[in-house]
Amino acid sequence: MQKIKIFKIYDDHHPLLRKTLKPVSLPVSKEIKETLFQMVEYLKASQDEKFHESHPSIRPGVGLSANQIGIDKRFFAIYFKDGEEEIKFALVNPRIIKNSLRKCALSSGEGCLSVKQDHKGLVYRYSKITLRGYDCFLEQEIDIEAEGYLSIVLQHELDHLNGKIYYDHIDKMDPNHQIPNSYLI
Ligand code: NI
Repeated sequence: MQKIKIFKIYDDHHPLLRKTLKPVSLPVSKEIKETLFQMVEYLKASQDEKFHESHPSIRPGVGLSANQIGIDKRFFAIYFKDGEEEIKFALVNPRIIKNSLRKCALSSGEGCLSVKQDHKGLVYRYSKITLRGYDCFLEQEIDIEAEGYLSIVLQHELDHLNGKIYYDHIDKMDPNHQIPNSYLI
């Protein structure tokens, strides 16, 4: 395994986690591309059992946004495995261009590398979105048509770029409240 950059992860008390981040100017710099690739490798390693044994303080994650590592720029990385398929994105200036009316939520709730304490409760997201952004792996602007889990992960990360954190969406009075036209996964 190549050397993994161990990022210092900013937590949700840091003001950068509550800031609307600045757009990345195009073309994307080499530095941002390199950072995004390192973020993807970090996420991949964080899910690896062997890596985890040697780095017990690093929590497993599937997404990481620029402000979580102290950068005020609109980009994030995603990595997870869907069966044998690797789902990975290194996205710059992402935005939702289409969304369903239907919503979905993870039945076990969401988590975040910047949030130490778990917040129980349902976080409703659009069940289907089309996200447009520049992908540094493909080196072009792409439209991602996402549904279910991927749609949730992309919206969680997009929220970070707008200074939002998953627990902002939890209904404090009734955390497991099921809303109309929604489903749980
Ligand atoms: Ni997060």
